Amino acid sequence: MKPTVLLTGATGYIASHTWLALQGAGFDVVGVDDFSNSSPEVLNRLRELSDREPVFERANVCDEAAMEGLFRRHPIAAVVHFAAFKAVGESTTRPLAYYANNIGGLLGVCGAMQRHGVKRFVFSSSATVYGQPERLPLREDAPLSATNPYGQTKLMGEQILRDLGAADSVATEGGARGAAWQTACLRYFNPVGAHASGRIGEDPRGVPNNLMPYVAQVAVGRLARLSVYGRDYPTPDGTGVRDYIHVVDLAEGHAAALRRLFEQAGSVTVNLGTGRSYSVLDVVAAYAKASGREIAYEVKPRRPGDIAACWADPTLARELLGWSSKLDLARMCEDSWRWQSMNPKGFDA
Ligand code: WQD
Repeated sequence: MKPTVLLTGATGYIASHTWLALQGAGFDVVGVDDFSNSSPEVLNRLRELSDREPVFERANVCDEAAMEGLFRRHPIAAVVHFAAFKAVGESTTRPLAYYANNIGGLLGVCGAMQRHGVKRFVFSSSATVYGQPERLPLREDAPLSATNPYGQTKLMGEQILRDLGAADSVATEGGARGAAWQTACLRYFNPVGAHASGRIGEDPRGVPNNLMPYVAQVAVGRLARLSVYGRDYPTPDGTGVRDYIHVVDLAEGHAAALRRLFEQAGSVTVNLGTGRSYSVLDVVAAYAKASGREIAYEVKPRRPGDIAACWADPTLARELLGWSSKLDLARMCEDSWRWQSMNPKGFDA
């Protein structure tokens, strides 16, 4: 019997890649999304890539009645919760929308799980919870802080899950202990790249906030040139340094986390990063090589809120999940370019 896993935000960038990874790992998948930040076309691509009909329902995770129906119709044994807004800059101008959607959605999903006795939960967290790193590489016991509402929603999400786990260790009324919540908080570093088929990939709405999709759109001719935000950081070439991780490696990390939740007791919080770091100009050079296109750029002032450098110590994920990244920057750029060049206007061409 293959356990059924519910993916929220299922037609989004990371979730759609995770959908395929979970099927490959022997899980059945049910997807839910409201298409507020993704395209229904992703379902057609998943049907093609998995050679089976995606089991999917359109709903907003904040809709309690819709979530009730979902849990009644499907034998859900675990949830991977991706559904959330994720743009740092936008979160500073729309804090209420971010708290309502990111925290409200998390509470909606956990409430439905509690009512249906489902207690295995994988949470899409972010390296943004480390704020301005004091030491690098970042270990999971580094100090946590948030410099924007988006980061706060990830910090609060992790705290909600810690409280849920602690509550189960306390005898409930009448002394019976509830089945303990088992959670995996996965702190993503910088997800980039695309499925090797080129049929799914990152398709941000409007002008991309993040580096690689912006570079991809310059390479394919949709945008004229990249703005390099700051070349005066205390880094080797003066530009920002990050731990880019291939989205397929990241998806496999979710499969490894679920295997652990089904095979062992307890909860985990781990970094999903490579432990290697690259500058903005490293990425530009690697993308130019992968695409054969010149990537025009101009240096602009630093972006408010940006940090100089951030990369993971990936040891704990290897020890607790038996997972580590496999794909390098060249492969991240090659796979991103294949997706972008095959889908110059994204999913809704
Ligand atoms: C990377 C580097 C920029 C765009 C954010 C969130 C994080 C996660 C990933 C959600 C930085 C530089 C970027 C551009 C540039 N999101 N840059 N020109 O800021 O590390 O992380 O996205 O989970 O939570 O904080 O990613 O790709 O925006 O920036 O020079 O047009 O590229 O200054 O050094 P970031 P990014």
